[in-house]
Amino acid sequence: MRTPVIAGNWKMHNTVAESLKLVRELKALVLGVGGVEIVVAPVFTALGAVAAEIKGSNIALSSQNVFWEEKGAYTGEIAPGMLKDVGCTYAIIGHSERRQYFGETDETVNKRVKATLKAGLTPIMCVGETLAEREGGKTLEIVSRQVTGGLAGLSSAEIDKLIIAYEPVWAIGTGKTATPEQAEEVHADIRRLVGEIAGPATAAGIRILYGGSVKADNVDILMSQADIDGALVGGAALQADSFARIVKFETK
Ligand code: PGA
Repeated sequence: MRTPVIAGNWKMHNTVAESLKLVRELKALVLGVGGVEIVVAPVFTALGAVAAEIKGSNIALSSQNVFWEEKGAYTGEIAPGMLKDVGCTYAIIGHSERRQYFGETDETVNKRVKATLKAGLTPIMCVGETLAEREGGKTLEIVSRQVTGGLAGLSSAEIDKLIIAYEPVWAIGTGKTATPEQAEEVHADIRRLVGEIAGPATAAGIRILYGGSVKADNVDILMSQADIDGALVGGAALQADSFARIVKFETK
């Protein structure tokens, strides 16, 4: 039985005060909701304040990025242990915006995943194809390369602890959601690939989230797919009511 995960990626939005307002509203709306891991990923500057606000609640904290070294002369970077120290239990890694604007590759994603696991945080490793890649019939090839590269050198026991997020780049922030069938096809392939890499038990247990214009009105059908175990939500996570409705998804 895979516990669903609904994670809100706030991206580069919200001051500390705005982050606190949002998380307070959310906390009230999801009070007592169980059977789902609820995660929010504020900007770095708001992590400490949000951590204090969600203490003892059913909401967990994630970073939006992480570096792979533990400490040292790496100006501007933040280590996994520092994220843990501030109260994070998850770290989003390799989001397509990081790959697109900050030069992240499967190799650097892999280093981040390893360091994050070593620090005892749960990586949410993002993969997904661009529109040109989908139209060129390369979706499965690209996603397979990203999954294989991101998981390189990890044991099955390590892969068991990880979450994968499939986010087609053409569906992020565009209002264009992959159809449930399109998403399910890729999710099933990712699960099959994880099985080849790490064995059937790991494949059966790993959580694979869908991301890309997930909203209150499409989450139910997405979550009804066999291999979709949760959502990574951008825009709709910035309003407490819409994110709370996503957290309270209903499967058919
Ligand atoms: P979106 O973003 O929900 O705004 O499309 C998703 C993401 O980038 O994680």
